[in-house]
Amino acid sequence: MSNLAYERLHANLQHLKLDTIDTILDNYLEIAAKDGKTTLDVLDYLVDQEKKNKEASSQERRMRLAGFPVKKGFEEFDFEFQPSIDRSVISDLASLRFVHNAENVVFLGPPGVGKSHLAISLGIETVKAGLTVYFTRADTLVEKLKMANREDMLEGKLKTLAKYKLLIIDEMGYLPFDNEGAFCFFQLVSRRYERNSTIFTSNKSYGEWGDIFHDHVIAAAVLDRILHHCTTINIKGESYRLKERKMHGLNSCVVNKILDVRGEIEG
Ligand SMILES: Nc1ncnc2c1ncn2[C@@H]1O[C@H](COP(=O)(O)OP(=O)(O)OP(=O)(O)O)[C@@H](O)[C@H]1O
Ligand SMILES: [Mg+2]
Repeated sequence: MSNLAYERLHANLQHLKLDTIDTILDNYLEIAAKDGKTTLDVLDYLVDQEKKNKEASSQERRMRLAGFPVKKGFEEFDFEFQPSIDRSVISDLASLRFVHNAENVVFLGPPGVGKSHLAISLGIETVKAGLTVYFTRADTLVEKLKMANREDMLEGKLKTLAKYKLLIIDEMGYLPFDNEGAFCFFQLVSRRYERNSTIFTSNKSYGEWGDIFHDHVIAAAVLDRILHHCTTINIKGESYRLKERKMHGLNSCVVNKILDVRGEIEG
């Protein structure tokens, strides 16, 4: 290859942002010449490497933008600890059919039973499938919507939030919304209705959602839209946090026992 062609090739690769090919080209051309690869083999390999790297960095970017507070997948979830969860329903959700059909998922249950964990696991699967996800706590979301409303920017904010293929709204009901918050939240649910999927987690039963919104009419309108196409996972069981605390309690007993025994030996 002439010097001019070589330099132009690298300049064009950089211009087209084909960074992987630009980086591996020289080495790979040497190896390919030694191995007697055809031009088609070389092109196929280089383009495939570029595609794989682009996909990996796009996934990394989407994972970062999703804003998961922790990255916990299904493989870290102990289903035996929580027998009230129907695994076949979770497997079906993990197929992401609900995302493709713009359906919703609601995880209900007391603290520590794994609602946020499972919501995040579904979010991670969705990012891996090449789709956009955004995770937010309900109170943070409503504060942002209210601020946008006051700055006359609610429309733009709703548009952005409506676009995510999956929006995860965690901790519905820990703090009630005021009238403005309830109005903004209703707008968001309306925008996403039958267009994109939303996952909610809450420790309040549907009957108690009226208290979250103060206004039972808005609560009914929100629930009507959410539940029209929705899978509800009602988790009844013990807190996993409590289990871990018990284990730590057990460990400190063991430590005390060891200290006692050591005291007896030394004393
Ligand atoms: N069955 C489980 N297997 C493994 N880890 C679990 C399980 N259930 C919960 N956990 C872990 O326990 C902790 C609490 O779970 P999580 O945050 O999902 O609870 P939650 O139902 O959302 O509770 P809260 O209502 O207080 O927000 C997390 O660290 C989570 O990863
Ligand atoms: Mg939670």
